[in-house]
Amino acid sequence: MKKTKVGIVGCGMISDTYFKASQKFRMIEVVACSDIIPERAQAKTELYGVPNMSNDELFAMPEIEIVLNLTPPQVHSKIAMDTLNAGKNAYSEKPFGVDADDAAKVIALGQSKGLRVGCAPDTFLGGGQQTARKILDDGWIGKPLSGTAIVMGRGPEKWPQAPFFYDYGAGPMLDLGPYYMTALVNLLGPAKSVTAVTTRGSDFRTIGDKVAEQYQDMVQPFGQYPVTVTTHLTGVVEFQCGAVITVIASFDVYKHGHRPIEIYGSEGSMQVPDPNTFGGPVTVCRKGDKEWHDVPLTHTYTDNSRSIGAADMAIALRNNRPHRVNGSLANHVLDIMLSFDKSSKAGCKVELSTTCERPKPLPLGLEVGELDD
Ligand SMILES: NC(=O)c1ccc[n+]([C@@H]2O[C@H](COP(=O)([O-])OP(=O)(O)OC[C@H]3O[C@@H](n4cnc5c(N)ncnc54)[C@H](O)[C@@H]3O)[C@@H](O)[C@H]2O)c1
Repeated sequence: MKKTKVGIVGCGMISDTYFKASQKFRMIEVVACSDIIPERAQAKTELYGVPNMSNDELFAMPEIEIVLNLTPPQVHSKIAMDTLNAGKNAYSEKPFGVDADDAAKVIALGQSKGLRVGCAPDTFLGGGQQTARKILDDGWIGKPLSGTAIVMGRGPEKWPQAPFFYDYGAGPMLDLGPYYMTALVNLLGPAKSVTAVTTRGSDFRTIGDKVAEQYQDMVQPFGQYPVTVTTHLTGVVEFQCGAVITVIASFDVYKHGHRPIEIYGSEGSMQVPDPNTFGGPVTVCRKGDKEWHDVPLTHTYTDNSRSIGAADMAIALRNNRPHRVNGSLANHVLDIMLSFDKSSKAGCKVELSTTCERPKPLPLGLEVGELDD
């Protein structure tokens, strides 16, 4: 099979996962990489044998059809615009952007140029989330009525890059919310409204013994750095299908006992696995049952397969079908996430201005490396 050529822009921490996981997909091949810090791209050339160059040189390579944008959230929209203006399809790491207007411009540019736009997470194509989707679609728990999506912890407060996670463009919602909100839209379809109260537990955090280079002017080992975003967001997302999901995303919690996602339906309940992973477990308790039962996973891709969304885009381009991990899904997820702070500030329910199609499920019986035509 002729492979679709892919370029990676941004050779930081997550890029290793993409360099490695993309090798399992027979329809894509990473042929170039770049980073604003050239040594970082050079290091990936040494590890993976992929030539490195400047962003402009990468955008100018005619054989590249898809650019994987693995830069920090604040530059996602700009790199996506540069990609589209270079005539290439744009696939970004999450979140789709940090500003709704900039994100909308990316969608509009993609449409006007007839190019594809996509954005992580693609974990909802993993075996765990696809099994949960099949259980819902097959009616095991009846009509979904309500549920919970809960992601809580202290956040990566001691990491060398910690200040990033507590600053504009991150926080628990923009950093981890994409996994949860995308999983919910995959299960339930698009949302209608968000009603939320958001807050933060403290104005400063203390870093660990290592400080990343870019923060060394601002903070010393074990020193304090500022928290500029809300770090505890609690709210209700109302879906167009009628289900209402209670959502908590927090960096202010030491320990809790909640499952990542639970869906309660007219005929039973389902526990959905961590949407930041590809695997299970999926458990179900149906009307008449006393206990939860493990459901065997029905779908392939149960280990880390980040880049499956780009692989699906490559097949979709070739066969002129919609790609699943697409811009309108990511833009809708961004709208949901940004609406938490918006609702809290306004003191009222926010009706969402975006919507999207519920992505088509993956078929059963795929081999690893394969996707449907
Ligand atoms: N690290 C993780 O575990 C992880 C997991 C899932 C998703 N993500 C997402 O992946 C993205 C990148 O995260 P990361 O942890 O790899 O960050 P990182 O800071 O380690 O890497 C980002 C890289 O992008 C480069 N960069 C910045 N601006 C650039 C530009 N204009 N052109 C080219 N390169 C540029 C930086 O120099 C850096 O090397 C983020 O959106 C993050 O949310 C990260």
